[in-house]
Amino acid sequence: MNLITLILIAFIVIVGYFIRTIVYPPSNFPKNVPVIPFYVSFLTLFYKISQEDIYNIYIRKKIEEHGIVALYFASRWNLILQKPEYLQEMFRDLNTFEKSGNQKKVPYSVLAAYTGDNIISAHGENWKKYRKVLQPGLQKNFDEEPLRKNSQQLISLIEKDQEKTSGGVLIQHFLQRYTLANVAVCLLNTDFETLSRSDSPLHLQQLAVKKEIFKPIFLNFPILDTLPIPSRIQARKEIEKFSKNLCNHIRRSNEKIDKSELNLSNSMIAAVETGILTEKQFRDNAVIVFIAGHENPQLFLTTLLYICAKYPTIQEKLRDEETNSEVPLKERPYLNSVIYETLRMYPPISQLVNRKTARPAMLSNDVIIPKDTYVGYIGYATGHDPKVWGADADNFIPERWGSNIQEIRTNYLSAKSSSRLIAFHGGMRACLGERLALTETRVLLTELLKELSWELDPDWFDMMTPGGPLSPFLLKLKFSKLNP
Ligand code: HEM
Repeated sequence: MNLITLILIAFIVIVGYFIRTIVYPPSNFPKNVPVIPFYVSFLTLFYKISQEDIYNIYIRKKIEEHGIVALYFASRWNLILQKPEYLQEMFRDLNTFEKSGNQKKVPYSVLAAYTGDNIISAHGENWKKYRKVLQPGLQKNFDEEPLRKNSQQLISLIEKDQEKTSGGVLIQHFLQRYTLANVAVCLLNTDFETLSRSDSPLHLQQLAVKKEIFKPIFLNFPILDTLPIPSRIQARKEIEKFSKNLCNHIRRSNEKIDKSELNLSNSMIAAVETGILTEKQFRDNAVIVFIAGHENPQLFLTTLLYICAKYPTIQEKLRDEETNSEVPLKERPYLNSVIYETLRMYPPISQLVNRKTARPAMLSNDVIIPKDTYVGYIGYATGHDPKVWGADADNFIPERWGSNIQEIRTNYLSAKSSSRLIAFHGGMRACLGERLALTETRVLLTELLKELSWELDPDWFDMMTPGGPLSPFLLKLKFSKLNP
């Protein structure tokens, strides 16, 4: 055998091995877990297809039957849980199902450079430290007045945009400006000027970063980020510029603030000054507060406005409750039921894989998961399962939550604690921004309902995002003034 033949054989073996790792799950994966064909993860590279359709066609039957599937995603095979009992076990056992965010999973990626080691992705002592610093400022009671002011500014922006066109308003971008303004005023004691100007520097810088980050080819093959590809080099530069600017902005705005005020940026700055957080940890957590604080509420509000447009009777019922009620927003039965039902059917962070087993694990005496396996979930799947939610699980029925606010709240809390509703995740690592997200949602929806009605733009193609966070894809809405 000559050298060329040897090289050729070695090449074929390496390529064959590489293809095998993509096409089939690792040999130690549990045999009683169904496998979703590997190509499902690549469909959106070639077709315009929504993640809802992908789920219904390729995943639903298997995951509803077994409560768990093996899915190829982000360059590896993962186990995806759907059954509430399995999810609960995962959420409870923090030490076996360790959080393993992008900084550990794909440390060389542009995504990891963006978000770093932060309160959402860290595990163990670092997470405890971040939580101690951030939790009080994230979970305080939020004053509704600044949120109302921001809602009014948003409404005038929407009205102006609607006046310019007989078609629909591309709403997502406006909602992003609103949720960013809320992060600024409620959490970081500053103003990013996202509602007063369309060219807020921080917002523009972050949009430039996002444009690079969410390119599907790099999300699917993060290893490409290690190559000197000009767009990846540029992305790293944009990230550097954005994060530096954000940290300077927070520090400048907080120079004159009373240091004893309960406020997230105060605690973060104090933690750096006293050596609890390093400068890098301050930066990483500031970036994640900025991202999680506005992206998730923005996605959720987009979906909520979509629901109100798609089902005009819901909009009418909400308006009736609004006009006939002096009741505080968080006690209004219909408003809260519509919000909970939207979270059930369309959890913004629908699919998430960011936990890794630190040791072999057993789920409900059914499934043995090997050590070092990535485990995640599809919240959309749990929210649509008839075994969990009844035969009408696919229908939007706010009334399912109850008829009075006590019942509705009890059902909501019970759905979360039993992991039937995982929009805000569960257990010790549940979302710390839920209170802010729900408060700003209630305020904006009621302010909008007072002044505008809206419908789907008939030219908009009704579909959810192809991948990533779940929300209506490039939603366009047509707004009309209620009292012109
Ligand atoms: C509708 C809006 C929101 C949704 C659906 C949502 C969803 C989630 C989910 C699913 C997780 C778990 C993530 C994981 O396992 O990696 C999470 C964690 C977290 N969220 Fe949210 N989130 C929302 C709004 C917010 C807001 C406004 C903030 C404010 C900064 C925030 C801050 C956090 C933090 C700090 C954690 C980590 C908690 C921990 O691990 O200790 N979220 N969120």
